[in-house]
Amino acid sequence: MTVAVVIVAAGSGERLGAGIPKAFVALQGRPILDWAVDAFNGHPDVSSVVIVAPAEPGVGSAQATALAERLGDRVVVVPGGISRQQSVRSGLAALPGETEFVLIHDAARPLVPADVIGSVVAALRQGADAVIPVLPVPDTIKRVDPSGLVTGTLDRSELRAVQTPQGFRRSALLSAHRAALDQGLHEITDDAGVMEAAGYVVHTVPGSPAAFKITTPHDLALAQLLVTR
Ligand code: C5P
Repeated sequence: MTVAVVIVAAGSGERLGAGIPKAFVALQGRPILDWAVDAFNGHPDVSSVVIVAPAEPGVGSAQATALAERLGDRVVVVPGGISRQQSVRSGLAALPGETEFVLIHDAARPLVPADVIGSVVAALRQGADAVIPVLPVPDTIKRVDPSGLVTGTLDRSELRAVQTPQGFRRSALLSAHRAALDQGLHEITDDAGVMEAAGYVVHTVPGSPAAFKITTPHDLALAQLLVTR
């Protein structure tokens, strides 16, 4: 049962403020994307890698192409879109024909541990159509209106922070993405959300603090510390 991963790396990364797309910012001298690709390219459960790189010529697309040339046949690069959802669709279109399960991973989570990848794949092999790694939410979460006033407090025991890789039966994810497009749903921020909108059941497995997403300069500094310790 063949497993492929789509690594989405086409975001601009404005909140990081590095002036280049986030996935190509250096972490210990190598682009963030390289770390993410290594996590999957060396994983025993994963047989091929699709990288979704920025469409515009520039540092991102050039580095992604150089990376794929270095890694050979198992890795291909395709251009992304203006939304994450569009970038994922572009990656799905490039999957090898024999792919049965697909993992969708944010390049911005370069330090995802091998056992999280393994848990997601194991749940797919047990029959789930959709699996996501999650963590409990340690903070109290409040709803706040545009003027800054609190309008409610959520029950954090029911909440989970969602990570990637998210895993799917390929045929189910393709049909869910087609349905989202048909319904005009263009800004769903994760693929489990696309599956939920199409009525699929989404399972969870334990995530890891190490799979955090690099969004701000603080996150990048934390990742630097973790890889140099
Ligand atoms: O913006 P955010 O941090 O949620 O992005 C998550 C992941 O999706 C990142 O790895 C980013 O490169 C990717 N992305 C993409 N295409 C977009 C927007 C985001 O590949 N248009």
